[in-house]
Amino acid sequence: MITKITGENIGAPNAPYYTPIQDPPPGTSLSLIKSQSNDTESPPLFTPLKLRGISLPNRIVVSPMCTYSAHDGTLTDWHLVHLGQFALRGVGLIFVEATAVTPQGRISPNDSGLWKDEQIAPLKRIVDFVHSQGVKIGIQLAHSGRKSSTIAPFILVKGHENNVKIPNLSPEEYGGWPNDVVGPSPIPWDENHANPKELTIEQIHEIEEAYVAAAKRAEKAGFDIIELHFAHGYLAHEFFSPISNKRTDQYGGSFENRVRYGLETTKKVRQVWSEDKPLFVRISASDWVDNGEGNSWEIKQSVKLSKLLKELGVDLIDVSSGGNTPEQKINLDNSYQVPFAEEIKKYANIYTGAVGLIRDPQIANNIVTNGQADLIFLARGFLHDSSWVIKAAEKLGVLIQTPKQYHYAIKKILISNSIK
Ligand SMILES: Cc1cc2nc3c(=O)[nH]c(=O)nc-3n(C[C@H](O)[C@H](O)[C@H](O)COP(=O)(O)O)c2cc1C
Repeated sequence: MITKITGENIGAPNAPYYTPIQDPPPGTSLSLIKSQSNDTESPPLFTPLKLRGISLPNRIVVSPMCTYSAHDGTLTDWHLVHLGQFALRGVGLIFVEATAVTPQGRISPNDSGLWKDEQIAPLKRIVDFVHSQGVKIGIQLAHSGRKSSTIAPFILVKGHENNVKIPNLSPEEYGGWPNDVVGPSPIPWDENHANPKELTIEQIHEIEEAYVAAAKRAEKAGFDIIELHFAHGYLAHEFFSPISNKRTDQYGGSFENRVRYGLETTKKVRQVWSEDKPLFVRISASDWVDNGEGNSWEIKQSVKLSKLLKELGVDLIDVSSGGNTPEQKINLDNSYQVPFAEEIKKYANIYTGAVGLIRDPQIANNIVTNGQADLIFLARGFLHDSSWVIKAAEKLGVLIQTPKQYHYAIKKILISNSIK
């Protein structure tokens, strides 16, 4: 095992090979480089944020993104390279994609999972690598409810290869479980999704316990943050929204009943998740359905829910929207979900994350500067350009730390660009 190359050069403690200790961590603002600027402080996008025992060097987060490349819920070298690349590019925090707490809770047969101990080691390998680079990493725990057993967008289905619209539902021969899909009520998302079976109260409790077991495994894998996926029309959102929840027991009807499953899950996870580690919750702030007040999930209810989540020890609400019904009419525009994050931050008095069509570093910086959100989550922007953070820093006139192996070279480019 080579953990030291020469002299004082002891490597990072999490790696079974030599890689230099990255201190300060990549993504840390070092100095201002824009010679024409009179500013003396780092732009807010490049200021640290401390959440419980975790300190992030900047406000930029790799949003959870399914890559539909796992086998039996187990991650592979693909995920190590895909997620590991961001650890070398200055991001503040990386999230592993939606990771199912039960096999039936996967969106597709190729989703990440954490329902058995065998799934811990491949995750830990990724966590250890990211930590060896001085970067923080979280995992998004999920159950997709009535939207489970679908098929990954790039999987070819026999008989549908010639650009014919493929069925959304994954059949059994493709690893799906169309007859074992569950939800709060027996209402399918649309005709291309499974007919969900209504969960019994016992089954609801079993899923809550599956979250607890997955959270314990996430702890063993060494994750810094857990995010509960309560957005995008997956199970918790299905419970929240009167569109998908028609139950008449204690899990349906009133607001208090519809949020019960989400709150119970949160409370149980918080109890087993380390006190010094943050817990995030991603919600859809609105169903984007205008069918009369109280008939769908709306921002007012999201604020109310966020207050309750805060009381249970949630540290940040990651504010997305939509995904619960094909009836949604979304005003897709740059930063379109930011007003929701702002409202939740203001009225629930909790840290928020903004996500959705945030592309321009200046806009991202303004969102943090104006106190609309505390973290900026980016998804597609990072698939397009894994160097988004380095380029954003340059645009905002900051020299950031990058991995030592790159830094002396990148620094020269940034400084020579800034004096042109
Ligand atoms: C390929 C892909 C996979 C995604 N998978 C997830 C996921 O696992 N969990 C989740 O909450 N959102 C998921 N999303 C949504 C993103 O996290 C993000 O909220 C959305 O893409 C909007 O941000 P953007 O405009 O920066 O892409 C996914 C998006 C993409 C493009």
